[in-house]
Amino acid sequence: MNGIISIEGGVPLYGRVRVEGAKNACLPIMAASLLCEGQITLRDIPALEDVYTMCKVLTALGAHTDYNPEEKKLLLETSHLSGAVAPYELVRKMRASFLVIGPLLARTGQARVSLPGGCAIGIRPIDLHLKGLKAMGAEVIIGHGFIETIADKLHGERIYLDFPSVGATENIMMAAALAEGTTIIENAAEEPEVVDLARFINSMGGHISGAGTDTIRIHGVSSLSCTDYTVIPDRIEAGTFMLSAAITGGTVTVENVIPAHLTPLIAKLKEVGCEVVEEEALIHIRRTGPIRAVDVKTLPYPGFPTDLQSPMMALLTFAKGTSVITETVFENRFMHVDELRRMGAQIKIESHCAVVSGRDKLYGAPVKSTDLRAGAALVLAGLAAEGRTDVGAIYHIDRGYWNLTEKLASLGANITRTEQSH
Ligand code: EPZ
Repeated sequence: MNGIISIEGGVPLYGRVRVEGAKNACLPIMAASLLCEGQITLRDIPALEDVYTMCKVLTALGAHTDYNPEEKKLLLETSHLSGAVAPYELVRKMRASFLVIGPLLARTGQARVSLPGGCAIGIRPIDLHLKGLKAMGAEVIIGHGFIETIADKLHGERIYLDFPSVGATENIMMAAALAEGTTIIENAAEEPEVVDLARFINSMGGHISGAGTDTIRIHGVSSLSCTDYTVIPDRIEAGTFMLSAAITGGTVTVENVIPAHLTPLIAKLKEVGCEVVEEEALIHIRRTGPIRAVDVKTLPYPGFPTDLQSPMMALLTFAKGTSVITETVFENRFMHVDELRRMGAQIKIESHCAVVSGRDKLYGAPVKSTDLRAGAALVLAGLAAEGRTDVGAIYHIDRGYWNLTEKLASLGANITRTEQSH
């Protein structure tokens, strides 16, 4: 189904909005459920397209999934894995499907997963994932669009990641959980979603320490047991709503957040000219004056998150002055620039930098999402632009945001969604 989100801009947003469970925590945690035999209960699981896709991947592998979107609860039954093959059409659709290779290999001794294609934001290699699995004793064969991995028994190893890849850290951590001996991941990703995965595996009886730092130790165990686990809130969804208050000049309270996960964005929003008050699980934000230009550089956690780069750029297109945004994590994550230019934004791209010359106004226009965060950025720009903005290809947005239209409307936005049957 193709849909369009239409926005009449210029309305400051006011009110409270609740953030869902983190997409990028629940996807690896769903994959890690393959590590144990039995029933696992996962809570605060958002009703996102990517969650349904991961359920299909797990089902293709023989697991049973029962998701209740009202209760946001997912039951997984992983006792009998029928086939160790993650099908191409699902892995092509969602790169995160590749996260099943580590747990599948550790649990069954083999895994056959289609090569994840690249996607709009970059070629997205998997060399670091495979480097880790090979180091632990896996035989890896690549052919006919598939990756075949076989290992009688994985053994612990010391593995250095050339880049602190989130996915590679997670795949290696899951494989190491059932390996013989201890695995040390150096230059590991420190994202909160990596920490949540480690906590989940430990709740099943795993022995992982150091998650959240650049060195993670995993002591392999012979088996893992079932668990009932609640995933952390989604810091990227939270940041998107904080930016919706800043860009419209409103006052918004974001609920169900871990403020410490949003330190880089909070710092930048204060520099831009917002008042940000943090409470236990809440963040209050309001813009107190004109938007000031600031420079932003995306980095692996705890740096400024690449997933908030395009929403932050939307805000800075309205700033007084020139901002420089440097994207260091992905090589091609500026596709939203052309779409923002259609709304009157003045942006020049020099290699990994976007130079944003702020404008007093943007004008509503028909635009197209190119990836899920770019789609969110275009919605944010539409909220503050003069006139009507129609955002197309919103299936990208549905991958990572549940009820985005309804939540923004509850804050006063003049926003509607229409489905197009063709
Ligand atoms: C995760 O992707 C997230 N996805 C992404 O969120 C997020 O943007 C990214 O981490 C960075 O924070 C999930 O968690 C499901 P990486 P991942 O491996 O694991 C290079 C969203 O919007 N690299 O940390 O694929 C790679 O090319 C999505 O929710 C290698 O070179 O990211 C990239 O330049 C988008 N070799 C950089 O590392 C490898 O083997 C970061 O990739 C693996 C990665």
